[in-house]
Amino acid sequence: MYDRAELRATSAAPADDLAYLPVAKTRDVKPGQLKGVRARGGYEFVIANVDERYYAFDAYCPHNNWPLKWGAIDRGTLVCGLHLWRFDLETGRVLDPPMADCLGAYPVKIENDTILVGVRPK
Ligand code: FES
Repeated sequence: MYDRAELRATSAAPADDLAYLPVAKTRDVKPGQLKGVRARGGYEFVIANVDERYYAFDAYCPHNNWPLKWGAIDRGTLVCGLHLWRFDLETGRVLDPPMADCLGAYPVKIENDTILVGVRPK
């Protein structure tokens, strides 16, 4: 497993401090789809494809750990399928309800049709 708090810090880390892990092929995450993925090292993410742009977040909702792969993408937000909390797709910031926990968001690169997610090396 990984330290969730440590992973959350990756969004602010300089890009060259990150290790990019392959998580899926682009063809495996269709437009409008959320897909749960695992990477070496025990990392788990949910990948969102919005108009061929890919986003990576913590795999589980910060509210009650519901798998976000069972959520939805709606108007620029990722919506948890259990209690319908909404997170900004660009930042992972919680939008509704206000003042709740945010979602860890990670940088994504595409290389040769492979989706790579940036994490701080352990
Ligand atoms: S578990 Fe996601 S909103 Fe409650």
